[in-house]
Amino acid sequence: MTGYTSTNDEKESALQREYMRQAADYTERLGKKLGRKPRYCVVTFGCQMNARDSEKLSGILERIGYLPAAREEDADLVVYNTCTVRDNANQRVYGRLGYLKSLKSKKPHMKIALCGCMMQEQNVIDRIRESYRFVDLVFGTHNLYKFAQLLVSMFESGGMIVDIWQETDRIVEDLPVSRKYPYKSGVNIMFGCNNFCSYCIVPYVRGRERSRDPDEILREIEALAADGVVEVMLLGQNVNSYGRNLKHPLSFARLLRRVEQIDGVRRIRFMTSHPKDLSEELIDVMKDSSKICRHLHLPLQAGSDRILRAMNRRYTREQYLALTDRIKTAMPDISLTTDLIVGFPGETAEDVAQTIDMVQRVEYDNAYTFLYSKRTGTPAAAMPDTVPAETVRENFDRLLKVVQDTARKRAARMQGQVMEALVEEVNEQDGSLMTGRLSNNMLVHFPADSGLIGRFVDVSLDVCHGFYYTGHIVS
Ligand code: SAH
Ligand code: SF4
Ligand code: F3S
Repeated sequence: MTGYTSTNDEKESALQREYMRQAADYTERLGKKLGRKPRYCVVTFGCQMNARDSEKLSGILERIGYLPAAREEDADLVVYNTCTVRDNANQRVYGRLGYLKSLKSKKPHMKIALCGCMMQEQNVIDRIRESYRFVDLVFGTHNLYKFAQLLVSMFESGGMIVDIWQETDRIVEDLPVSRKYPYKSGVNIMFGCNNFCSYCIVPYVRGRERSRDPDEILREIEALAADGVVEVMLLGQNVNSYGRNLKHPLSFARLLRRVEQIDGVRRIRFMTSHPKDLSEELIDVMKDSSKICRHLHLPLQAGSDRILRAMNRRYTREQYLALTDRIKTAMPDISLTTDLIVGFPGETAEDVAQTIDMVQRVEYDNAYTFLYSKRTGTPAAAMPDTVPAETVRENFDRLLKVVQDTARKRAARMQGQVMEALVEEVNEQDGSLMTGRLSNNMLVHFPADSGLIGRFVDVSLDVCHGFYYTGHIVS
């Protein structure tokens, strides 16, 4: 399958709104029994895509009469939206499920739902059916839009409901969403992935690439802007291949130009860019834009051509370096960040030295470094020459040190400058400070009133603390 176009399924969204009305009756009955409104807690594991999905789940739950609870302990319905990109994400879910079991034994009316990427794996479903029988509802990534319908089935049934689809071509729009932040929002522009990097499970659990209709995307962003959103993050596993399978193909760069025209949106971010598909047109659009943020997350994964080939990344280190050179020439103030994997099968000390060399050459503002995790069913899982855990650990520590030194050096370049920050939240450690985010994604903490949250201020970057700044407002 090479991917296909999806259009908004209006009949389905009308049907789901009907299920929301039915589910609301069950919520009301539960509320009468409890003598208060029932509460929900959605816990998100994994990436921005999952975070956005959780906002959709929360939107449906609030529409049918649930109130949010901050902790699982206070909730009558707990939803775990899971991730399976690395095994430690799975282990965390199993660990917390044990805890939920003890909560449920004290509160038998409590319902537990599991969804997200982990649920698309048959071995996970088998294990849940066998060892976690107290779970009430299990669904996957492709049928999240029918959450209300699944809740109705759950309330009607006594046992565990499991509904997992292998694939879908459906995109259902116009469902409720409850945003975590009033002033910024993720926006899905595409779903799935066709790249099949040899280590990665995402294409198997998220299905084939499907782009959303540009008019639907723009309509959603206009509505968000009208609702006070000043920053949008366009989401996809590989935004650079957006629009290729649409009936009227439209490049990602052209989509960005259209998003830019929306009044009220002051900042545009996107995630993630695959280096092999990053076009000159995109660099031009970014360069000319006053709204697209000066930050590009460009996962490298590994620095040696041999490992890149085995990973099926489809670029060489020279091509990647030429690309980052072009980006930096066009936008000298841009921040580049990346993802790196240590311990891919067959990785040698020389390969790791090449990754370190790339970090020093590109001078990343930040890099997320991951220990390779073997994912069943991926091509890399069958590759020989597993690297011994101790060697991986040593290599990881060496790489991390270079990443941190480079990031510190990069951060210091902004010392003393005045930059625009979006005020995001009260500082966690010191309530008299607010935390703001610069266009290049760097955080700065400064004295201010919480009434400024969601507003833009000019901040002087006074003291660099390695990975963040402290400063003061100058306007
Ligand atoms: N679509 C994005 C990445 C999604 S997964 C992209 O292509 O950049 C986020 C990151 O998790 C990846 O960039 C990769 O560095 C890491 N990752 C994916 N599979 C992994 C695995 N099996 N072991 C360790 N890290 C992995
Ligand atoms: Fe995984 Fe590669 Fe797709 Fe990213 S592009 S989600 S790393 S297969
Ligand atoms: Fe994890 Fe799924 Fe995202 S596997 S990284 S939550 S797409």
